[in-house]
Amino acid sequence: MTSEVVAAAPVPVPGRAQRVREIAEELRGLRGALIPILHAVQEEFGYVDQPDVAVIADVLNLAVAEVHGVVTFYKDFRRTAAGRTTVAICQAEACRAVGAVELADHAQRTVGCGFGETTYDGRVSIEEIYCFGNCALGPTVQVAGTLHGRVTPARLDALLGDAR
Ligand code: FES
Repeated sequence: MTSEVVAAAPVPVPGRAQRVREIAEELRGLRGALIPILHAVQEEFGYVDQPDVAVIADVLNLAVAEVHGVVTFYKDFRRTAAGRTTVAICQAEACRAVGAVELADHAQRTVGCGFGETTYDGRVSIEEIYCFGNCALGPTVQVAGTLHGRVTPARLDALLGDAR
């Protein structure tokens, strides 16, 4: 177990830049094309890599900083590939009132990566979510697609088990 916060190094995908350009060119005519393009890139590759940002900016004739700003502002967009197990921790008000912030701190410390990041070995990603609709049973956490309520740090450790 490590307390170091590290993100997985992206694995280069051959032809990715060309495919990102194709996606951007296909969708550039849409109103507010940037967001649909980013979603399409993420849908295809699982995340929006920094080189994708430059390609998209070029196609849309935007500044790289502008596209980068949108990618980093919206939590929907991943900056690295997701791990084999994704842990999504609700950080909305009702869950925060019953320990979700402390739970998130514990998760980040014990798993070894921050929100929106993946461990260096690609095992686990941690995401922050704003309400699963399970507010009466917070703190709420989704582990590998299954929702869990009233999650304590010890229970989270047990849920993660070998995934860490
Ligand atoms: S506030 Fe956490 S599930 Fe609704």
